[in-house]
Amino acid sequence: MRRTQPPPPLIPNEEEDEEEPPPPPPPIIWESAPWTEIFTRPQKSRTAGEDFPTARIVSFLKDEAKIGCTVEEIVTAANVITYHVKLNKIMDLSKIPKAVEAMAADFDTDITHGESRGYGAHFSLTIPRGSRETVWIYDVMDTDEFRRIANDPKSLPVIVGMYSDNTPAVLDIGKLPHMLICGTSGSGKSVVLNSMLISAVAERTPDQLQLLMIDPKETELIPYDGLPHLFMPIITETYMAAEALGEAVEEMDWRQKIAAEMGVRTLGAETPYLLVVIDELADLMLTSGKYVESSITRLAQKGRALKIHVICATQSPMAKVTTNLIRANLSARLAFRTTTDIESRIALGRNGCTELLGNGDGWLVVGTEQRVQAALSGTDEIEALKEWYCHEVPYNAINLERRYAWQKSLSEAKERRAAEIEIIEREANGL
Ligand SMILES: Nc1ncnc2c1ncn2[C@@H]1O[C@H](COP(=O)(O)OP(=O)(O)OP(=O)(O)O)[C@@H](O)[C@H]1O
Ligand SMILES: [Mg+2]
Repeated sequence: MRRTQPPPPLIPNEEEDEEEPPPPPPPIIWESAPWTEIFTRPQKSRTAGEDFPTARIVSFLKDEAKIGCTVEEIVTAANVITYHVKLNKIMDLSKIPKAVEAMAADFDTDITHGESRGYGAHFSLTIPRGSRETVWIYDVMDTDEFRRIANDPKSLPVIVGMYSDNTPAVLDIGKLPHMLICGTSGSGKSVVLNSMLISAVAERTPDQLQLLMIDPKETELIPYDGLPHLFMPIITETYMAAEALGEAVEEMDWRQKIAAEMGVRTLGAETPYLLVVIDELADLMLTSGKYVESSITRLAQKGRALKIHVICATQSPMAKVTTNLIRANLSARLAFRTTTDIESRIALGRNGCTELLGNGDGWLVVGTEQRVQAALSGTDEIEALKEWYCHEVPYNAINLERRYAWQKSLSEAKERRAAEIEIIEREANGL
């Protein structure tokens, strides 16, 4: 089923004055993308490798660690296997971490030990899988959980992937704090951003969702160019990012004024979400740190009630980039593999990220902390969405006026920047 268009404007009456201006074009009636039809259903795929045999784990616990216990439940997720273990009799629980450490050394793998569900003497062991499965965006979108959140017209549904208990990691960005995604190069930040954006754009039309995308690396977000959801063209130059964030703050102030005029504290369904996405915060913080920090902080502090949300990704979770202010304001976290414990503590608030497996294996912290395997997506889905939303609509026509205004302020900013540089150079040369 394609988008329904309103009836064409009436043919003008020929007897009328010829000077009469033509009727305004009919408003575009958007329809969200029928993604089950336009996305390709993926094949199951997994990496070659062997998972640990359960018998080996049980025998280690019983024979080597001398812990009398029963494995009550085994949950196999895409990235890890979790063993829920019940102790046969009350024992000194401090023995368990030591036993887990010995087991990890013996198996030459990382084992996370946690509390388990149920009462009394339970614990859980989480072991990375030798044979990991790919979680495809389609499979997570094709779940009741995603449909439930997407069907709420007030929500902004995004998918992250699958939790280690095999339930879908689906979030309503509208209800969450702003998010910081950390992890070393190649750990899966851009892929998960992509999955989040694709799921949101598939379900929300340009009059429900606007995107402000900043991609200083000029790679990951570029395929979205041309999507009518763009609030302004994709920003790739770092010094322009500060301007763009300033524009978002202006939009926020404007929305606040409207809300005050209407006498409401939160905006309703008629106002689109504005999602600000930054793929690599480090580049911005290192060029215009103070300005970027204060804009993000302002957006984060006031934005939520005004339907403005921020998601930043960075491969350098260090104090210079993810400052205390940024961390305090972007409190929802997705932490992928880091190279050092210091980075792990900045990303997650504790050690543990160095042992993650890469390729989208992470910890999602939204209130509670849960292990997650991020969903894989690609440019095919973005192309399909662009084709759907641009169908019958000229290239970004909806934002044309905004784009012209923006281009103008872009060139003004460039001139300002050039003048500033000239002053700095003259001062440096003692002129
Ligand atoms: N969720 C995932 N499932 C499967 N493979 C993944 C996943 N996430 C990432 N990968 C693999 O890892 C590669 C790098 O991922 P990605 O580009 O997201 O890294 P990054 O964290 O953005 O790195 P950088 O900081 O260098 O931009 C991908 O091209 C893909 O092959
Ligand atoms: Mg990246």
